[in-house]
Formats: sequence, structure tokens, C-alpha cells
Amino acid sequence: MRPFSDASASTSRSTTTTTAVATTVVSSSEEHSPCCSARPLAIGVVAVSMSFALIYFLMIVPLTLPATTTPIPPFDTVSHTTVILPSTTTTIPEITTTEDPLYKYIEDKHHRLQIPLIHIPQLYEVKLKLFVPWNPSVNYGTDNFIVEGHVRVHFTSGGGSRVLLHSDSEQHVGECLVKDEFGREIFVKHVGRGFPQVLDLHLAADMIHGMNYTLDVAFRRHIRRESAAGLFAVPYVVATHLQISEARTVFPCIDVPEVKAQFDTIIIHPTGTTAIANMMDNSTVVEGGWTTTTFRRTPPMSTYLFALSVSDYPYLERYSSRGVRSRVYCDPSKLDSAQLLTDTISPVLDFYEDYFGIPYPLEKLGEFAYTTSKFIIYT
Ligand SMILES: *[C@@H]1O[C@H](CO)[C@@H](O)[C@H](O)[C@H]1NC(C)=O
Ligand SMILES: *[C@@H]1O[C@H](CO)[C@@H](O)[C@H](O)[C@H]1NC(C)=O
Repeated sequence: MRPFSDASASTSRSTTTTTAVATTVVSSSEEHSPCCSARPLAIGVVAVSMSFALIYFLMIVPLTLPATTTPIPPFDTVSHTTVILPSTTTTIPEITTTEDPLYKYIEDKHHRLQIPLIHIPQLYEVKLKLFVPWNPSVNYGTDNFIVEGHVRVHFTSGGGSRVLLHSDSEQHVGECLVKDEFGREIFVKHVGRGFPQVLDLHLAADMIHGMNYTLDVAFRRHIRRESAAGLFAVPYVVATHLQISEARTVFPCIDVPEVKAQFDTIIIHPTGTTAIANMMDNSTVVEGGWTTTTFRRTPPMSTYLFALSVSDYPYLERYSSRGVRSRVYCDPSKLDSAQLLTDTISPVLDFYEDYFGIPYPLEKLGEFAYTTSKFIIYT
């Protein structure tokens, strides 16, 4: 066997460009020792199979890790027991297997099931109460980092007696109530949670095609702390990051980008913090340690664009020449570095409005910058 140094010796004397070096190595090994022409091939085969093994390992490992969900305190018992499983329940068998490729991976808890677009949502009224210990002196005990929510979905029905919404399995759903446009209740006889990511309501009567209905759902879940996806908390900030399909982890909805609707947002947050959302705040009411901030209705938009943040961060502010308010919220210690960003947003907004000839559609634009050891996120 030729020592490896021979090959490099022959390359170094031949030429300086890399392509030529490679040619020299191959030709010299072919000339002098046929045994070694197999070696690069063998190394290649080993390298390729190791890469496949690594890719396979990376694909398998996250799925086999044990679930680390902490138990969630029970929902308010009255609404939970009476509404989720009414005493008159006729048990509807859950589908467990089917040939439909949509359901092929239903056993996988990360599977993002598609749902048929029978009902078209027009408006979501989203109300979220955030139990965030936003500074070291605040403690809600077992409710720490819990979000209690309520959503009222106004939708135009396509008929039938089923309503399907996307809803993350960690969302503990309480009361579900369907009403027609005259306020008459349609009894929900079964709330199906058989498929991951789906809330499947079976009604006692058919809805009328083309009529408007409302669906009220109460829910409760943990605010995430391990990843910056969905509704998450890092000390001492709560924020959302819903691209591409995390809106369903914040409230039950039809979480498909082309299904656009308007949003009325109400956030109940600890007094001392400020809530920001897609639109300007309209009113703020302080009562018993909680502040209720109500926001104006959004234009029709995709669910993944829903955004909110709760913190006690200060902000810097400027207005564009058309009067669009831009603010940069950040940690008090980072205000100096935020100045440049603040001074940049409004001129850039003016430039793009002129360039595209389309005015920015909203009254405000917010940049929320925060840093921790784990995350640097700009939204
Ligand atoms: C249902 O609601 C939509 C949007 O609010 C409205 O345009 C439509 O006219 C309503 N339909 C009926 C039958 O009231
Ligand atoms: C804003 O608040 C006022 C009074 O508090 C109320 O009359 C109005 O309907 C609210 N507007 C929206 C869009 O919520």
C-alpha cells in the first residue's frame, strides 16, 4: 500500500489550482497501485451510508422520546362535566383506522390533519386570560403559565350536523355551544377529540346551508416555555409565533391560510404589564389586579397572522409621513440599540408605499425585540 503522503507529494509538485490537484491525485493512484483505486470508493460508500444512518436517526429520535407533558389542573368542574359529556350522550364510535391517506398518520401526535372546508368562518372573538408571573413577586400558584381562553367563531354554514376545527390536543376544551342567528341553541351531543389537532363537534340537529351560526368554545392550556412557537413565555415576556400552523395551539380555529376571517381580541393580563396585538387597543379596564385590553377588529386575515404580546417593556415611537405609528418594544437595557431600528422603520414604510403605490393597510406597526440566552426574535 502506498502511504498517503506519496499522493500529496505528487500533487504538490504538479500545480497550484485545486481542480488540477484533484486530477493528479486520481491519475497517480490509478497508475501506480490498482489496490488503492478502490479506497476512495470504499470511503465514499461508508460516508454515504453514515449520512443516511444519521438522517434516519434524526428522523426517528424526536418521535420516540417520551411525552413530557405536565398534568394540567382540571377545568372548572361544572362546565366541564355538564357540557363535554352530557348525560344523554349516545356514544358515537370514533374512527380509528381508514384507508384515506389523510388519516394514515393519525396515531402520530404531531400529525396536522386537514379538515373539510364546509363552514366558512367570518369572525373570531378571541378572549385570553394569561396567568403570567411577569416579575419575581407575582405568583399564581398552580395557575402559573396557564392561559384560560374563550373563542366565539361566527361562521356561515355549509349545512350538516358536524363542525370541525383545528385545535391542538394540549388544549383542554370545556364548554362548546352552537347557536343559530336567532340565538337558538343547537345541542352539542358529542365533542370528538379522536384525531390529533382536531375538535369534532356532533350536533343534535342539522344546520341550514348559507345561514350564519356562532360556536363558543372555552379552553385552557399551558403557555409554552420550552420553544418559541405558538403562545410562549420567556422571562418575563409572553408572545406568539404562529407561522405556519400554530394558531390552533392558541385557540380553536380553521387554521388554513386561505381561510381568512376578522379577529376581535380581548386580552386579560396582570396589571403592570401592557398587551399589544394586531390592531390598536380600543379600551383598557383595570380591576382586581387584572387589566382587560380590548383591541379593534382586524381586516380579514389568515389565522397564522394573529399576534399578541404581554410584557412591561418600554417602547420607542415614531410616525410615518402618512401617520402610521411605529413602535419598537424592547428590554430597558437595549433601548439604545433600538433607536436605530425605530429611526429606520418609518422612512422604509414611506419608501415602500411610494414604490408599490399601495398604502400600508393598518394604523400601526410594532416591532417586538427581545433577547434571552435562547432566543432572539423580531416580530
Ligand atoms: C352571514 O354573515 C356574513 C358576514 O357577516 C354576511 O355577509 C351574510 O349576509 C350573512 N348571511 C346571512 C344569511 O345572514
Ligand atoms: C371601542 O370602545 C368604545 C367605547 O369603549 C365602543 O363604543 C366601541 O364600540 C369600541 N370599538 C371597537 C371596534 O371595539
